[in-house]
Amino acid sequence: NSYSKATLQILFQKNRCRIRCQSTDTEEEPKIKRNILDNASNLLTNLLSGGNLGSMPIAEGAYGSVYKLAFGPKAFVVVSDPIVARYILRENAFSYDKGVLADILEPIMGKGLIPADLETWKLRRRVIAPGFHTLFLEAMVKIFTDCSDRTITKIDRLLEVEERLGGNTIELDLEAEFSNLALDIIGLGVFNYDFGSVSKESPVIKAVYGTLFEAEHRSTFYIPYWKLPLVRWLVPRQRKFHNDLKVINDCLDGLIRNAKDTREETDVEKLQQRDYSNLKDASLLRFLVDMRGADVDDRQLRDDLMTMLIAGHETTAAVLTWAVFLLAQNPEKMRKAQAEIDSVIGRRKTTYECVKNLEYVRLIVVESLRLYPQPPLLIRRSLKSDVLPGGYNGEKDGYAIPAGTDIFISVYNLHQSPYFWDRPNDFEPERFLVQKKSEGIEGWAGFDPSRNPGAMYPNEIIADFAFLPFGGGPRKCVGDQFSLMESTVALARLLQNFDIELKGSPESVELVTGATIHTKNGLWCKLRKRHQ
Ligand code: HEM
Repeated sequence: NSYSKATLQILFQKNRCRIRCQSTDTEEEPKIKRNILDNASNLLTNLLSGGNLGSMPIAEGAYGSVYKLAFGPKAFVVVSDPIVARYILRENAFSYDKGVLADILEPIMGKGLIPADLETWKLRRRVIAPGFHTLFLEAMVKIFTDCSDRTITKIDRLLEVEERLGGNTIELDLEAEFSNLALDIIGLGVFNYDFGSVSKESPVIKAVYGTLFEAEHRSTFYIPYWKLPLVRWLVPRQRKFHNDLKVINDCLDGLIRNAKDTREETDVEKLQQRDYSNLKDASLLRFLVDMRGADVDDRQLRDDLMTMLIAGHETTAAVLTWAVFLLAQNPEKMRKAQAEIDSVIGRRKTTYECVKNLEYVRLIVVESLRLYPQPPLLIRRSLKSDVLPGGYNGEKDGYAIPAGTDIFISVYNLHQSPYFWDRPNDFEPERFLVQKKSEGIEGWAGFDPSRNPGAMYPNEIIADFAFLPFGGGPRKCVGDQFSLMESTVALARLLQNFDIELKGSPESVELVTGATIHTKNGLWCKLRKRHQ
């Protein structure tokens, strides 16, 4: 847009997409080229995830539901097809690893679940997944509520000051508030550490944000220059990154030492039946340390905690951000949610039972994840040569891929494809209650809300991998129920207390895609106290 005489062409051919830039203005051309190069990785991420080019019909059959995107010397296979996604994520899951993602995250997460090699992953997944059992999740509702109430108290105080000045509305960047809130929750829930980030700044908080910032930078930077020798000492941002890591690691090491010093070894079944109402420390770390037969060195535990800290923080904050963004543009849906919250919670305490009864708020959370999936892409690399199955648009032959092929499953495209969703761009939480007629797509089971009875939230099964908010198959998110309940409670407490409007136009809230989809300059909102 900055260059009126330039053209950026994105050429789609069968199984291939090329990007070409031309300018008729010879003076401007070098500048444009530099700009394109500087932004190459952003451009790529945007293109793949829909980002700024969201209106491009990438997922439509005409361009192929599986295509190869060649970008300089690099090539990626982009998958926007539920049948192929199901194959890679579930049916042949162990023929793929996390590829580029593991390369980027290994220096931060070590052998945590996301970048871990298969052997380590199997051992640790078997220990960590049972930690998210029902009684733990029920106990977490208190932490979700207490932390949300800190945010509410903070907003109330700002409103009181405003009222003394004669006003009744404040302006606040809710994205930043959600980020603090999610950090406090993940700290307390996963390792019983109170960041207290809603009300203060500390070196540990600064270090967490610094590390997240670097993870984001690395996920969108084209050349992994940080792997070069001496870079970690010579480049200031890399020096800072390693200092930040040390601050967090020291903090986690202290917490692990403390948990081990107070260990009460017990069988996993007994741990899952603990009386959480009497437990001072309900955290996942307590569970991992107390579990009989799950002894592990401190380094591995630290990697596990670091992984959950990073995986569970920005993602949840982003869900809340986009849920508010969507609700603010749909005031009648906001009122419907508030009516539900008033009747379910009212003046009572927020409990697990409340979450079960907040059906509309739960659907809002899930619909926000459909429109703004976090992350917008799932990343895999083939460990051996393979043949991907033919896709939904009738291609029978499938696609042969060599070992080492980098694959991006575009969840963003899948979630917004008109092939699988009615009015895909509309914010319609109610859609998850409606049975969609089978479209007769061979190999895809269609959308059926009753396919996963007993699940509190719609998941990948109901849309047979056209809906992948938490991935699918063995590498599916371990924190899915934790974060869905967290988002439901936080959103409910906020909407119960405040009426919210956007400060500017929806268009002024520009989105930036990286590891998650976030705003460019914050989600600035106007908040007013609700009087029920
Ligand atoms: C994996 C999304 C919250 C821990 C994943 C994956 C997705 C995802 C899509 C699969 C990645 C892949 O297949 O490549 C989300 C979203 C969240 C969220 C949208 C919030 C709304 C959390 C929380 C935790 C967590 C709160 C921990 C407390 C993990 C871990 C993995 C993972 C450890 C790796 C699992 C494995 O490979 O076995 N997440 N996540 N996530 N997530 Fe989450």
